[in-house]
Amino acid sequence: MKTTISHIKADIGSLPGHSSVFPPVVDEVAKYVKEHSQGLLTDHYISHVGDDIQITMIHNRGIDDSEVHKLAWDAFKAGTELAKKVGLYGAGQDLLKDAFSGNIKGMGPGIAEMEITPRKSEPFIIYMMDKTEPGAFNYPIYKMFADPFNTPGLVIDPNMHEGFIFEIWDIMEAKKIELPAPELSYDILAMIGSKSRYVVKRVFTRPTHEKLPDENVAVITTDKLSLIAGEYVGKDDPAGIVRIQSGLPASGESLEAFSHPYLVSGWMRGSFNGPLMPVGMKDANMTRFDGPPRVVALGFVLKDGKLSGPIDMFADPAYDGARRTAVDVVDYLRRMGPFEPHRLPDSEMEYTTLPKVVSKLGSKFVPIENPVKKKARLANPTRDMD
Ligand code: F6R
Ligand code: MG
Ligand code: MG
Repeated sequence: MKTTISHIKADIGSLPGHSSVFPPVVDEVAKYVKEHSQGLLTDHYISHVGDDIQITMIHNRGIDDSEVHKLAWDAFKAGTELAKKVGLYGAGQDLLKDAFSGNIKGMGPGIAEMEITPRKSEPFIIYMMDKTEPGAFNYPIYKMFADPFNTPGLVIDPNMHEGFIFEIWDIMEAKKIELPAPELSYDILAMIGSKSRYVVKRVFTRPTHEKLPDENVAVITTDKLSLIAGEYVGKDDPAGIVRIQSGLPASGESLEAFSHPYLVSGWMRGSFNGPLMPVGMKDANMTRFDGPPRVVALGFVLKDGKLSGPIDMFADPAYDGARRTAVDVVDYLRRMGPFEPHRLPDSEMEYTTLPKVVSKLGSKFVPIENPVKKKARLANPTRDMD
């Protein structure tokens, strides 16, 4: 029987400002889901990273189920009431609409869902990032499913040897394409290197995969909050679900993709490039310069609709080196202040508050005089040059 994993996340208020969730609000969301999930969910888990509350739900209703989406929406609404009451900063900020309208997509929260044929043991990892955008998943997902230097299983395991199929979304044009790796790896990379526009949405096994044919094995939230809201309301901090083991990247191959703290966009005011730091739950609070961007990994197994776990995968001294490098990169980048490429390029500042500042100066601009004409005018001030 098919099972669905639905992961829905939102920032509904933070303490003191965009840094961390407020535990009583997380409890309120958890209480709501627990009290209203009877007959709808077979299991669920509530977690958080930075200022985002994350709801993982297990059920048999397929993706895009309006009752499941509504449960998450109503739970976030319930949490928002408390967030407003205690005056949390940005209370309810990701709930962009007043009323639920059948599907949570486009309403603010981020959503990643997959319908799967569970194996006799179904291990998977939920990755949750704060202070960055969906394209931040492009690099590690490519490493996990297409780079044999990261994932030796692509070379060694006959079930992985044929590679995987990448579904890539152009989030500016609202178009998608499916491309196989390794055959079209260069085409995949040609797109997903532009991570603010092209994002990996899903990864599938091949129809010929011996253990798990034609299955969705990874999915990422790809909601573009700024495009929905029309102005900056926080980066759409992404989350992703990655199935692991037995013909898929091993747990350690999946995690290995985060051992290099690569640069992502987001961080302070959604306007800066910075390293993605893998951390355990105890360190999932955004502090330095509202960051740096972080990723947490929770490992679960699923059996008969029930979850066991999670294991806090990055709470491991083996990731201390990555964390140290990330802090060194932070020290280096911060010295650039408001300059590119620490600050994002103009094209990516469109939905931040910067254009408002620059537009105020508009009337003060004057045309730059052509230097050749200027020289001639100075040499012959009585002649009309135009
Ligand atoms: C980044 C983020 C924060 C805020 C910053 C300013 O995604 O949410 O870095 O942009 O703290 O917030 P405001 O403008 O609300 O004072
Ligand atoms: Mg926020
Ligand atoms: Mg956030």
